[in-house]
Amino acid sequence: MTRISLIALGAFAIMASAICLLVLLPNAMLSDVAAPSALADYTAVQAQGRAIYVREGCVYCHSQQVRDPSFTTDVDRGWGTRATVPADYVFDRPHLLGTMRTGPDLINVGQRLPDIGWHLIHLYDPRSLVSWSTMPAFPYLFERKAPGDVRAEDRVVAIPGTRAPKGVIVVARPEAIALAEYLISLSRQYPVNATTGGSHDPR
Ligand code: HEC
Repeated sequence: MTRISLIALGAFAIMASAICLLVLLPNAMLSDVAAPSALADYTAVQAQGRAIYVREGCVYCHSQQVRDPSFTTDVDRGWGTRATVPADYVFDRPHLLGTMRTGPDLINVGQRLPDIGWHLIHLYDPRSLVSWSTMPAFPYLFERKAPGDVRAEDRVVAIPGTRAPKGVIVVARPEAIALAEYLISLSRQYPVNATTGGSHDPR
């Protein structure tokens, strides 16, 4: 065997074992995970909000996973009461576990911040609620209307304090409402099956 084919064979063996260990084995272990009975699939509006979360790149700053309290401070920080388990994600496509935590973890944000109005203000202008926030504003998910143009069915967002825009009314577009509906739906606090860690909790 020539030296080059030996190197090629070695590289192939390393790639093949990595694919087995990191792709095929986890897939075989987790592909039959059942949904916990307390977890509902996303509604059409929540799924639309989730797609906007993906589009706007929220995952670049926010994770959606509470790690084991025995070796992390995730629970102490108030991000959840228990570590998340594979069953918590059965309805998630694509997965948004994330790795960056420039902002807080969001997998239980609907539990700690259940007010849709808060999220709409925060999305329009994070610094109107949290003065030190480095989160970008998403004003294009809203319309700015002259007071006379506001219709009865409009979702008006009252921006508090001095950062409120002058002379115009902020109205949430359907995209902003869907995204906020998705955020308040995020909660994985139900008890999970103790023997399986919840990953095979039968319905
Ligand atoms: C550049 C990083 C960055 C991006 C991108 C970002 N955020 Fe944030 N986010 C933060 C930071 C920092 C905070 C903490 C300060 C605050 O509350 O504004 C935060 C806070 C939050 C909170 C409040 C969480 C809590 O527990 O107080 C929510 C909800 C949130 N972000 C949602 C979103 C959504 C939805 C998107 C995408 C549309 C997004 N963020 C994009 C950085 C970011």
